[in-house]
This record gives sequence, C-alpha cells and structure tokens, in this order.
Amino acid sequence: MEMYENILETLGNTPLVKLGRFHSGPATLAGKVEYFNPGGSVKDRIGIAMIEDAEKAGLLKPGGTIVEPTSGNTGVGLAMAANLRGYRLICACPDKIPKEKVALLEAMGATVLPCPTNVEADDPRSYYKVAERIRDEEGAFLPNQYRNQGNPEAHYRTTGPEIWRQTDGKVTHWVVGVGTGGTISGVAKYLKERNPRVHVAGVDTVGSIYAYYHEHRELPPAEQIHQYLIDGIGEDFMPSTVWWDYIDEIVTIDDKTAYRATLELARRESVFTGSSGGAAAAGARQVAQRLGADGLVVTLFPDSGERYLSKLNKDWMGEKGLLD
Ligand SMILES: Cc1ncc(COP(=O)(O)O)c(C=O)c1O
Repeated sequence: MEMYENILETLGNTPLVKLGRFHSGPATLAGKVEYFNPGGSVKDRIGIAMIEDAEKAGLLKPGGTIVEPTSGNTGVGLAMAANLRGYRLICACPDKIPKEKVALLEAMGATVLPCPTNVEADDPRSYYKVAERIRDEEGAFLPNQYRNQGNPEAHYRTTGPEIWRQTDGKVTHWVVGVGTGGTISGVAKYLKERNPRVHVAGVDTVGSIYAYYHEHRELPPAEQIHQYLIDGIGEDFMPSTVWWDYIDEIVTIDDKTAYRATLELARRESVFTGSSGGAAAAGARQVAQRLGADGLVVTLFPDSGERYLSKLNKDWMGEKGLLD
C-alpha cells in the first residue's frame, strides 16, 4: 500500500522551481517552495528535529509541555510533532503576527500567548522572556529555535542535501532570508562542504541587525534598530543559530521591495509566498543580475502568502504605503 504512517513522513523533498519570469537570464534563479511541507512551512523541518533531540537527551518526558517563542511557523511545526507524540504546546507570539496564524496554532491545539512587539528582547513582557518564565514556572521544555543547534543542523541534514541533489551539484549561489539563521546556516555548511566556491548571501530587512553585524562584527547602535513590515526575517538581537563562518554577504531589502516582489512572484510565477519569501526573491534576483550564464542562484520560500491574507491585500498594503 502507498500510505504514510503519519503526516510528518511527508516532510521535505519540496520542489525547486525555476523563476524564469521573475528573473530572465543569463543566470538561472530557482526557488525551493517550502509551503509544500505538511504544516505549510520550512519550520516543519525543525519542529520535529528539536523534539526528537530533546527526547533523546531526556529533556522531554511523555505527556510533557513544550513552550516556544515563535512568530507562528515554528509553532505549527512543533504542534504537529507535539500532537503526534502526545505533548502540550504553548506559543509565546509577537502581537504583530497575523490573526490567521493565531487561529492556525489554536486549531492545531496550541495555547497562544500574544506579547508586545514594541519592547526590548530582554523586557519581561517580550515573547522571549514570557516563554522563559513559563519554562521556569511549569518545568516546560523550551526548544528555543534561536539557540538550539538542532535548528541549523536539521537544514544541514535535509534542506542542504536536497538542494545539492536537485541542482546536480551545480548550485553556485545560495541566497535566503535570515530569521533565526537556521535555514541559511545549515544549508550553507552543507553546500560549502560539497563545493567551497558556493557563494552564500543572507537577506536582511531595513531595521534589523544582520547587515550591520556582517560589516562591523558588532551590533548596530540602538537607533538603527526599528520595526518593519516583513514577517519572519531580521532580528534585534544575535541568535547563536546564525553560523557566520558560512555567510559571505548580506543583502538588505526594504518593506516595499519585499511586498512588491511577493505580488510579482504570485502574478508572474504563480508562486504565492509570504513577505519573507518576497524579500528572499528580491535579494536573490539582485545577486542573479550580477552573474553570467553559468550562475545558478537558489533561494527559498519559507511559507505561503495564504498565511498573510489580512496583510497581502490592497487595503492593508495601500494603508502602509507599499503600493504605488
Ligand atoms: C515566515 C518566515 N520566513 C523566514 C524565516 C527565517 O528562517 P530561519 O529562522 O531559518 O532563518 C522564518 C523563521 O524565523 C519565518 O517564520
């Protein structure tokens, strides 16, 4: 019989799709479409990986509680694994996440705690600190995708080899958004081990720290760190899941460029991804434009635009000045 034991067995091996309308030559641009994963995002890969690591390390006992600070997708990945393995999940979320994501987490059985976004990461009200308090008060397991090396390692084990195989080892550039840095880092390590000439560029937002850090090896002055409208990438602190040794360049993309690229991908390629996918594509296209015919640039679309329909519409984008 052709039947999976459970939905998580369908994880990974997502399609790599050429983006010949979004970027027309001479270099080739292709995107790995992660909304084909069973929970609809790239984070399904790390949810199960971090839970399995914790089980092996004895950090998670049968019937235990998991708490995670997450903007949503990691919560869904964790919820899938938690449901199948009998754990309870609490997600501390920034309050700017779209209501679709809250509904999705709750539908999956998770408890959602919205936390203010306009406070410092070390403020007790921040979603990071709220998750730590629940860990301490309830003895819950906190996977912490910002520190858990199982996050980049999951991409080293799965996403990286998939890209190498799907391009017959011909990938020349890996260009992708940086949130926790798990995706860029694990894939970059794998690809550079296979071919040290693979160039790795991270895509950052205006208002985040990564571009400045890459240039100066220190965090930017506080006044340069501010909020932005792209979901899921950029940070205001340095996670230890960013493996800087494997990152050659950071490309900065502003909100308008990212949202416009998101709609352009939907309308020209029929690939409907979230704004972090739009930002990644815009950054990858900038890199591809510098290259000749043997350039093969791979980017990645972390999730679907359907997760953000309350933002990806004329009214919201118009109100935020993202349209002409
Ligand atoms: C929508 C979205 N895009 C991109 C990312 C970035 O991926 P990573 O955390 O692996 O850098 C995330 C996760 O943080 C995300 O939720």
